[in-house]
Amino acid sequence: MNIAVIPVAGLGTRLLPITKSQPKEMLPVGRKPVVQYIVEELNRVGVDQVLFITGPGKTSIENHFDVNKELVEALRETGKEDLLAELQFDRFQARYFFTRQRELLGLGHAIQCAESFVGDQPFVVALGDSLIGLNAESDVVQRMQRCFEEQGCEVVIAFEEVPDNEVSRYGIAKPKDDSEVFEVLDVVEKPSLEEAPSNLAIAARYIFTPKIFDALEKIEPGKGGEIQLTDAIRLLIQQGEKVYGVRLRSDEQRYDIGNFEAYFRAFIEFALADEKLGAALHDYLAARLEA
Ligand code: UTP
Repeated sequence: MNIAVIPVAGLGTRLLPITKSQPKEMLPVGRKPVVQYIVEELNRVGVDQVLFITGPGKTSIENHFDVNKELVEALRETGKEDLLAELQFDRFQARYFFTRQRELLGLGHAIQCAESFVGDQPFVVALGDSLIGLNAESDVVQRMQRCFEEQGCEVVIAFEEVPDNEVSRYGIAKPKDDSEVFEVLDVVEKPSLEEAPSNLAIAARYIFTPKIFDALEKIEPGKGGEIQLTDAIRLLIQQGEKVYGVRLRSDEQRYDIGNFEAYFRAFIEFALADEKLGAALHDYLAARLEA
């Protein structure tokens, strides 16, 4: 599976004023912008075509994955080879494509914008505002690909167990059993705690066959008046299609940088894990907290 779709068109209103003029997907977490970690994660599992579903105000994402010749030459001329190495990612064997979601009608609608690009192939969806695992080193997409091949299903979703007070923020699964890879019997978008069938929240990574487009076509706007991806998955289950879930491991936290609390935490975690500066930052914070 070599195609991935990264939706990045959302307004990111929960991070205003930062997101007034820059995409949240370009926020730094440690040394890199969020979306670079995501592209690196996908590249590691064999994705070589990435379609960004984008919008006005998101051109810095396009620039980030383009080659900046002027910068490369300036670094070369001044002998800054070590800094040049930081730009290696823009030489991945990947091709980047961009299409605009012309109306912000929700995540499901953003995925619909990928239909003609994807054709009849299965594809990965990775949300542009969520990292999986410290330094984004998770191999969950690989495990999802394995599940997809073994089960011959239409959808595979990554899930993370969340505390009670967070179930109303995510799509929540009704799992068939409590194994690491499980059949999903139902999914509900942002349920109340009483309605939630479990604490298993959709964790920003999906695999779909093109059947998802037929389902997206059929559903009505759901929560918040948006075309909800979760509702389309639910419809597929109701039509008898097989949907599977893969649990994140306990050392594989999801970092959703879409709100300040989670963003601050993600930045601190990644900075503390920094090879060069993490130990010094740890000492600084320890002294600061003691004072
Ligand atoms: P969110 O719902 O968290 O993003 O979508 P948002 O709408 O930007 O955030 P707030 O609520 O205003 O703060 C998760 C991902 O889906 C993309 C977003 O860019 C984000 O990466 N998305 C969401 C779209 O591409 N299009 C949409 O219509 C909605």
